[in-house]
Amino acid sequence: MSSHAQTAPGNGLAEPPLGLEARLPRHVAIIMDGNGRWAESRGLPRLEGHREGAKSVRDVVRAARQVGLEALTLYAFSAQNWARPGQEVSGLMELLRDYLIEERQEIMENGIQLQAIGELDRLPTLVREPLDALIADSAANSDMVLNLALSYGGRESIARAAKQLGEKIAAGELKPSQIDVETFGNAMPTAKLPGLDLLIRTSGEQRISNFLLWEAGYAELYFTSVLWPDFRRQSLHAALEAYQGRERRFGLTGAQIESGDLAP
Ligand code: FPP
Repeated sequence: MSSHAQTAPGNGLAEPPLGLEARLPRHVAIIMDGNGRWAESRGLPRLEGHREGAKSVRDVVRAARQVGLEALTLYAFSAQNWARPGQEVSGLMELLRDYLIEERQEIMENGIQLQAIGELDRLPTLVREPLDALIADSAANSDMVLNLALSYGGRESIARAAKQLGEKIAAGELKPSQIDVETFGNAMPTAKLPGLDLLIRTSGEQRISNFLLWEAGYAELYFTSVLWPDFRRQSLHAALEAYQGRERRFGLTGAQIESGDLAP
């Protein structure tokens, strides 16, 4: 792994790290796993792991903006996470609220557009209010999309898209024969984002866990044993470097990709 320029002072957005400009992924998504284990290994309550994990979120969002990603999707709370102990769920909701309030100014000053996917209606008002406000206020920002997956499930989002299309068919607005990968993709909540290029999962687990199932169709997968609270900007840079070393073939041969002859 090559070394990088030191991070810039202040908010760390001034200077992009060396060597990462070429072949950057446009859209990166992260399964932020390992907060609980990070805390338990230190004899701390699980919530302390989430609190430290929120610091990683802050650092990684800055780093993503600094290197020039177009979109960063973070799996902050899954549809299945509601089943965790009530105290952990409410602690996570409070951390989300704090993040949305405390990072508001930096998000606005750095041209970041906040979006969210998932069953947002299930979120408590303490999260929903600052979330809706920041989504609305940052809608015209265009330097990077920060997309939070909240009460999110990949299967659930595919089922919702199918339902939407079914409703259009029932209303006579769409024919079944018009459903293809493009029309289906347009019904997904990520339709307006660049295609997912890189999916990162921390903590050594090698699973997708119901995250971006449709979108990950051609994404590069990157698994690291680093626990999320320890995943800071240097870890993101390492993942981006690994991505730059991959050859993406999209079902073609290596020779086709090399020659640039991509016609079928
Ligand atoms: C998985 O670790 C992580 C989560 C369920 C929550 C992620 C939340 C944060 C990083 C903090 C708040 C988010 C934002 C956007 C400010 P785990 O608890 O499953 O870890 P374990 O597998 O070690 O138990």
